[in-house]
Amino acid sequence: DAPLQFDAGTPHAMAVVRGLDGKGAAGLPCSTCHGESNPPASYGPHMPPGAPHWSLPPAAHKMAWIGLPADRLCQMIKDKASNGDRDFAALIKHVSEDKLVLWGWKPGGNRAPVPVPHEVFVSQFKLWAEAGGPCPAVGS
Ligand code: HEC
Repeated sequence: DAPLQFDAGTPHAMAVVRGLDGKGAAGLPCSTCHGESNPPASYGPHMPPGAPHWSLPPAAHKMAWIGLPADRLCQMIKDKASNGDRDFAALIKHVSEDKLVLWGWKPGGNRAPVPVPHEVFVSQFKLWAEAGGPCPAVGS
């Protein structure tokens, strides 16, 4: 119920929490500190980064993936009840174009980008979606 920070994934400083809509606690929304884009590098490495609709998913569908086995992660990503009501076409658009998703490949500061190139990720995602979203066997 809180965003994590740094590659070690420690809970966000300053008691930042998800809130019901994912945009932070009442009185301390993410947008208090996070803007629509990263601040200039000259501001230093510890400024709050930014991208449009900076937030977590809402509390009703948390999309919490850490520690999930591959079969459950796969089911969660394609289940419209947990993925923000997205069918495969909407999922492809989400991973290809959403500016907050894309931020992961250009996070700025001292943050490491997603290790798989974005175009490779999207092409693999499309292959999976076009195959009907097959999931690995339970427990794998
Ligand atoms: C009180 C100000 C403040 C609020 C409110 C806030 N953040 Fe942050 N956030 C920061 C700062 C400052 C950093 C950069 C810290 C650093 O790099 O040392 C940061 C960094 C982050 C990062 C980058 C983590 C990383 O690995 O480097 C994420 C993700 C994040 N915040 C998510 C959120 C979300 C989601 C919310 C709302 C639920 C939120 N923050 C609310 C100040 C805030």
